[in-house]
Amino acid sequence: MKVAFLSASGELGGAERCLLDLIRGLRRELRKFDPMCILPEEGPLAEALRQLGVSVEVVELPKFLASTGDSGERSRLTVALRLLAGVPAVPAMVRRLRRLLVDRSCDLVHSNGVKTHLLSALAVPRTMPLLWHLHDFVGARPVAGALLRAAAVRPVTLVANSRAVAEDAAQRLRLPSVRHIHNAIDLTQFVPESLEGSWLDSAAGLEPAGGRVVRVGLVATYARWKGQDQFIDAVAQLGDSIRQAGRFYIIGGPIYRTRGSQWTQEELHRRIRERGLSGCLGLVGFQSDPARVMRSLDVVVHASTRPEPFGLTIAEAMAAGRAVVAVSAGGSAELFRPGIDALAIRPGSVPDLREALARLIADESLRRRLGASAAVEARKRFDLHRFAGEFAGLYRNLAGIDDP
Ligand code: GLC
Repeated sequence: MKVAFLSASGELGGAERCLLDLIRGLRRELRKFDPMCILPEEGPLAEALRQLGVSVEVVELPKFLASTGDSGERSRLTVALRLLAGVPAVPAMVRRLRRLLVDRSCDLVHSNGVKTHLLSALAVPRTMPLLWHLHDFVGARPVAGALLRAAAVRPVTLVANSRAVAEDAAQRLRLPSVRHIHNAIDLTQFVPESLEGSWLDSAAGLEPAGGRVVRVGLVATYARWKGQDQFIDAVAQLGDSIRQAGRFYIIGGPIYRTRGSQWTQEELHRRIRERGLSGCLGLVGFQSDPARVMRSLDVVVHASTRPEPFGLTIAEAMAAGRAVVAVSAGGSAELFRPGIDALAIRPGSVPDLREALARLIADESLRRRLGASAAVEARKRFDLHRFAGEFAGLYRNLAGIDDP
């Protein structure tokens, strides 16, 4: 089965890491699976795909589309105007994309991001089944949401990464229902074994901790809504003795092109300095081996200030048997049992986060209990075989190909 995957980003964010896992999993589920990936640029995703032996084609997104998004802080009018100004660049790109799909006689097109969903509606011939894999809330992107509604007039199968995203999409796109398939992770990499975490101090530019400390990390891209500011504030509000028993890390980097939607390192550094935390809270840049990061931490924090579509880092941290604090809203609320597999906090609540951190830093047995239960639960929920199997079934139906 020839499947073309369209990615809106060439970086390795959550949606792109899912795509890699999906392709790995599908290789085992489909006997004849011939994937091709169309990306907007060279970069880490292209490299990872080539390492898997997947063929990669680069079709650049028109510049305006690459740098415009409405999930950030900008006004709808700005987004709409920027999009409109770029419209003349679209037809050539659409033609290139269509030619590529037709020349390769693809059996199915799987689009992995909002921007490629929009382009695919124009570029994918109607005779080719089209699937939109929704990784984000359509409702959080008013302009893209309106465009997607118009684009969904073409026959398209929607799959969301969580029930919350599916319900939001059905409502916004005025569809009777949208199915969801929870993401999976590589459970052979995210294993519940601890690694010595002192490397995090040097990576974050902190003095080595003298003696045993509880290492607490927020692992996320620098999107503003990931709550790095809340994490800094919560650490600042911890009592002195609790704070001194911990080391705190913000791990990740600004990986997206979309303007205005991300923290800069300088902003985060400034906030850390202003709260007097420079000695215990540091920034660790983007890490290509997230399993190593998870296993080096004692506590993993998820602090998104808006409902999270899914929350891949929560799944990864659970599988690695860490003690997790996570926002229970949107898709992330579907991933764990509060108080059993993780401590739940409300989105945007610094007091909730401070209290959860204080409990976890002070109580090693609570950390162990949560981590042990999370590791077992993650093996049930985030299995790659289940994830890829569901997609394989869907592909067979859509393409009308009986590949056992
Ligand atoms: C997007 C979502 C995130 C999800 C990931 C994979 O990045 O924001 O919540 O984990 O896609 O589906």
